[in-house]
Amino acid sequence: PPISPMAIAFDAERLTLSPEGPTLTRRMSDLEGLFRDSDAWAAESAGENPVVYTVTSSPVPEIDRELPQSITTIMPGDTSGELWMTKGHQHPNHQGEIYLALQGTGGLLMFDGERTEWIDMQPGTIGYIPPGWAHRSVNTGDEPYSFLAVYPGGAGHDYGWVLEHGMGSRAYRTAGGVELRPYSE
Ligand code: F6R
Ligand code: ZN
Repeated sequence: PPISPMAIAFDAERLTLSPEGPTLTRRMSDLEGLFRDSDAWAAESAGENPVVYTVTSSPVPEIDRELPQSITTIMPGDTSGELWMTKGHQHPNHQGEIYLALQGTGGLLMFDGERTEWIDMQPGTIGYIPPGWAHRSVNTGDEPYSFLAVYPGGAGHDYGWVLEHGMGSRAYRTAGGVELRPYSE
């Protein structure tokens, strides 16, 4: 059933939503096949298996024509130099999405199967993801990076697409910040 109009209290410091929906926690072991250095990934997964990111949702359901929101927080870190990141996905039926950076610094990596785009994200930056562009978020700093996402409830999440096609580039930590390298290097 469609839901009623509602106010959602957003705490800009604690980055909580109230009321809130489900919260998802992704640990290193949930990111199989995504980091370039699969041995390092396996060792970290079998060891401390750190939390890489969390996603807190509003109560708006992920169903067609609704407009859910969520806050993603990516921890700072890297695996053999590759910055910690979300799994990344394609929306199966090609719908757009907006991200608003809230805290920390990050990047929004997008790939349409041929072209790669990168947007530097810092508090206040709105990143626009056009229909048909797979997207992954990366923490480029040394504190947690958080952003708000608003997306069509029927967009869906195709994670297999990224396993099959990659993301065009990978983001690595360097002395000066972040460096993008071709996906297979
Ligand atoms: C929704 C969206 C974000 C991500 C979240 C976690 O369409 O793009 O809310 O779902 O940042 O990333 P993934 O889903 O790639 O694990
Ligand atoms: Zn998305």
